[in-house]
Amino acid sequence: MSTPDPAEFAVDRRRATATAQGKVNLYLAVGARRPDGYHDLVTVFQAVDLTETVTATVTGHCTDPADAVTGVSLSAQDVAGTPTGIPSGTDNLAVRGALAVLRNYHRSVPGARLPRLSLDIIKGVPVAGGMAGGSADAAAAMVATREILHGQGAAEAGYSLAPRPSDAELRELAAPLGADVPFCLLGGTALGSGTGAELVPVMSRGVRHWAFAIDRQGLSTPEVFARLDRQREDTPGKDRPVAGGSGGGVTVVQRALLTANSTELAAALSNDLQPAALSLRPELRRTLTLAREAGALAAVVSGSGPTVAMLCSHADHAVDVATAVSAAGHSGPTLVARSSPHGARLVP
Ligand code: C5P
Repeated sequence: MSTPDPAEFAVDRRRATATAQGKVNLYLAVGARRPDGYHDLVTVFQAVDLTETVTATVTGHCTDPADAVTGVSLSAQDVAGTPTGIPSGTDNLAVRGALAVLRNYHRSVPGARLPRLSLDIIKGVPVAGGMAGGSADAAAAMVATREILHGQGAAEAGYSLAPRPSDAELRELAAPLGADVPFCLLGGTALGSGTGAELVPVMSRGVRHWAFAIDRQGLSTPEVFARLDRQREDTPGKDRPVAGGSGGGVTVVQRALLTANSTELAAALSNDLQPAALSLRPELRRTLTLAREAGALAAVVSGSGPTVAMLCSHADHAVDVATAVSAAGHSGPTLVARSSPHGARLVP
């Protein structure tokens, strides 16, 4: 395809903002370590209304995707605190999300004008907390970048020369960025298999209410998986290769999700990464005990931790549980949230 002369187009000063939600794993069964270092797993993700917001602003133009993201700035939104230790270059997941969409466009129309983007992130999901905050940044950045390339004003600005990637195509582009990124695009409640990137939406009735006990010091996901491997090596026979995604605990969770009352779901919550997270951060045992004493229906480590997710029966109950956990001496912040039907989406 011949590409138009970039000089034909007006200066583009557009910006696009998108949000994506954090998540909790209602169920997480981890299989054996694969040759690529990942683990096959079966999980039920649920999005919650803790939100990451990414704004992509066009600051100029280029033709090489390597030059296309000029910077990333961060701000905290709430008690999750001031984000620290978040990479600002191409290791940042928002940058990687934007670049994945720009590179995909560049593959379709090599040599075409590309926007140079600056990214601003407002964080509402605890950092390194097992709630997919970084993955949500990637998802929101992908949606915002797609809008810059294919949304209103894109053709006038010299873009839109290739078809707009569908939501399913964005999820495919997202999988190499991280196992949780496709879910952060999809949102709602979904069954994940493979590394977590193969998704099927799951019916969930009603709204679930959560309180979260945050640990100011995050946990590294690779370290938690590595600790699980070591624990399994030390206790042979405990390895549980994951079969398919049907049967056993995951079916119990799916059935419980059809009941608006959360008591059944509380009994079904489970996370194979919890023993590894507890081994790396023994203080989490106390947080789990505090959560139960505070009257949570159930408490479980969220994903690779260290956030502890406490399922509650209604919104006021979640506030009561969060308050009681804080009053009992939990050292980090607490948050309340509801389940969210949303994935990554544009802010109009
Ligand atoms: O995909 P993501 O970058 O979020 O994963 C972080 C790390 O977690 C991986 O490098 C891997 O060590 C571990 N992981 C895994 N199996 C999965 C998902 C993540 O071993 N299914």
